[in-house]
Formats: sequence, structure tokens, C-alpha cells
Amino acid sequence: MLRTAATLLLATSSWAYNNGAPHSRKPPLGWSSWVALGPDAASDAAKAPIFDFCDEASVLASIDAFVSVGLYKAGYRHFHLDDCWADLERNATGYLQAERDHFPRGMKPIVDYAHFKGLTFGLYTCAGTKTCVGGRPGSKDHWTQDANVFASWGVDVVKMDWCNTQGMEPADTYPLMSAALNATGRHIHLNMCEWGRDDPWEWGPKVAQSWRATGDHTPVWESTKEIIAQRTAVPPSLGGAPYAWNDMDMLETGNYAQAAHANGKQGTMSAVEYKTEFSMWAVLASPLVVTTPILNCSATDQIGGNFTPSKCVPSLTPLQKEILLNAEAIAVNQDVTPAGRLLAAPAAPLCPGTTEASTAAAAMVYARNLSDGSVAVALYNPSDAAADGSVEFAQLGWSATATAEVRDLWAHASRGAATGRYPDAASCGAVSVGAHETVLLRLTPQKKTEEAAAVEEEA
Ligand code: GLA
Repeated sequence: MLRTAATLLLATSSWAYNNGAPHSRKPPLGWSSWVALGPDAASDAAKAPIFDFCDEASVLASIDAFVSVGLYKAGYRHFHLDDCWADLERNATGYLQAERDHFPRGMKPIVDYAHFKGLTFGLYTCAGTKTCVGGRPGSKDHWTQDANVFASWGVDVVKMDWCNTQGMEPADTYPLMSAALNATGRHIHLNMCEWGRDDPWEWGPKVAQSWRATGDHTPVWESTKEIIAQRTAVPPSLGGAPYAWNDMDMLETGNYAQAAHANGKQGTMSAVEYKTEFSMWAVLASPLVVTTPILNCSATDQIGGNFTPSKCVPSLTPLQKEILLNAEAIAVNQDVTPAGRLLAAPAAPLCPGTTEASTAAAAMVYARNLSDGSVAVALYNPSDAAADGSVEFAQLGWSATATAEVRDLWAHASRGAATGRYPDAASCGAVSVGAHETVLLRLTPQKKTEEAAAVEEEA
């Protein structure tokens, strides 16, 4: 019997919060300025990305690049400015304003331009007295005023951080901004960012559409591994569902020396590790928010850190294209079923009649039921040595005689039909999952003929 995704969905959707905001029914797909922008993108001598920086020229050029590098075509829609945009001073009447020398026309024309290109637009703020990195004004005690200014500019998503909040409680504070945003009458997605400290998956669904389940993600393997572990610790029944997604933080995919360094960390991850990042964010139904320069402003090898200012051209690296535009992996993420979960990791080996245990460790098995009855399976190996990967169909709630078509979503190739387990019960083996690798599969059960089903029923 297939475990019905619909049953699980009903169980969780009653508490999730649909306020009509875009990008809320499925995990949001977007791009953030965080490590990605440098000054003078419109000139012939642009500078390399600077951490936590934005200005009008680089933002407008990146809105164009969002479309031209293929993110829009692949389904990404949300354009986000992180802690880079607000002036250090509120205006004379106490409203937030865009940094005056970087955005001389203010924020509204920028938001209008993103909308004109078919994108939604998000801004960062902080619940405390000041923002985390930029030291800009926080929203504390300005909930209504800040919500009103965001709505007046046409903002669609607000991320609210948690620095400089001494004496405040997240579960008391986020509802204030949530109510203020809703009172504007504009449908605004609230993304909470208290780093999973106060179990936001328990109370967040009543006030927000997504929340950070983890600390900051940086482009080094230890960070990716830690984020996956933190996210795995969220109770599976609260792992995420429409209008209530656990956010694993931004994707650092393909970032090396060409990107600004988040929290001081330069990207060092291998292609295998960056594919693991995307696979696990996908199967765990995290928002997929890319942060990487989508303008190449260097005449020389900027990926290797050899930056020579030049005219900026829209660009993703070949590795980033392979990963970020992988339609089959994106489809695993973009569903309305509950988020994936860790199934019991199999002790090696599980084949009937086998007595000799494999000496290799077993890869961890994660799965997400998908709307069409198929199941996405991630065989994840966080260890530093190769592991055996396999999945028993009983773990998916299927019968031991069920047959499924197996597709590898990184190789974009069929692995044939398997019965009872993958690799097939007949071979009873395992696939090798390299150190830090994730094998991402989609298993689609074969429909039984009525006759075969009846025979099975009788047996
Ligand atoms: C915190 C958040 C990050 C980023 C910075 C901005 O660290 O967790 O995602 O927004 O603040 O200063």
C-alpha cells in the first residue's frame, strides 16, 4: 500500500497559515543579494562582490540577470535584498528609507522594476534595535510603521532577523510583525529568522509562511553537514507543508573566490558536496534561495579569485547551471506534499538470507512522497568514506512485491525497474555513495493490472 501523502497533508495543513502571499504554497524559489553584489555594476569597471552590499545599479542589473541566466525559466521568482539596503537613519518622520547615496530614487522604482520583470521582491529587516551585519535600524517598536512602508513600496516578502533582541522572545515578537503586515492589506510572506532557536516549527505556522530552522549556512562542508543535521532534528510531523516551510538558509552553490564570503568563509566545497546541498534542500522542502553573483564583472578568472574589473555580463558557472537549473531536482522541492524526512537508516545489509554484513557504513535514507504517487529518495552519506546505499520498499510503506521505476536525478538516467528494494531484491546489493555524496532518486511505482492485484490480494 502506498502511504498516502494526502493523509499527512491533511494532518498538517490545518495549522499552516495562508494569508494570500505569493511563494507560500510551495517552498519559495529565489535569489538573495547576500554574497552577490558589488558596486558600479552598470559601469565598465565594476568591482568584485562585497559582503552585504547593494546599490541601485547592481540591483537593477541583477534583476535583469536573474532572467537572462535562466533562473526565471527554471521557476525561480523571488528577488531578495538582504541586510544591505536600509539607510543608517530613519527619515524625519521615523520611516525606514533606502540607503540614500546607494538608492537616490528610493526603493519603490526598484520594486516596480522587479515586478515589471515578473519577479516578486523581498526586503530584510531585524526584530531587534539594529540589524546583524549592517548595523541598520531594526524594526523593534516600529512594527506598523515598517510594515506600512514595505506595503507602500509593493514588497512581497519580508525576512525578519533576530539580532540585538535582548530581553525579547521570538514567539511574542514575530506575531507583532505578522499582524502589522496583514493589517496593511497587502499579501506579504513573512520569513522568520531566529535560527531555529525557539522551535519555530511549533508556533511559526500560525504567524509566518517560512522560518529558518537552522543557523547561517556558509559554503564549507562542515556548515552544510551541520545544517542538514539541525534540520533533520526537526520533528518530521512539523517538517514543513504548504504555507509553513522550514528554511535551511541560502544556497551557496558553486561559490568559490568569485562570491563575497558569508560570515568570513570562502567557498571551498566540491561539486559532489554542492550537489548534496541541493539534493537535501530539495528533499527536505526548504526554500531554495540562491546567493551567488549572477553578473560576471571580471575579464579574468573570477572563480579562482583573479578579478580584473570589466563590463558585467549575466553569468552562472557550468557547475551552477548543472545544479541550480536541474528541473528534476527542483520538481522534488516544488510540491505541496509534506517535506521529506529521514527514514530509519538501514543497517547493512538487509537482504533476506544474507549472513555476512557489509563492512561499509550505510548511507542515510531520506524520502519525500510526491503528489503523483512517486517518492523522492535521497541516499545521503555525510561520512568521509564511501557508504552502501539502498532503500527497502517497506521503508516507503510499499509491499515487498511492489515494483518501481527508478530514475537518477543527477545522471538524468533511468536505473530500470526494481522490486522490493533498490538495488533490486534479486541483486540484493547496494550502490556506492561516495564521501559527502547524495544519490537523488525518484521511484515511481508501476501500476498493477487488476488481475495481478487480485492475485496478490489472495496470496
Ligand atoms: C543573520 C542572518 C543572515 C543574514 C544576516 C544579515 O546572520 O541569519 O541570513 O541575513 O544576519 O546581517
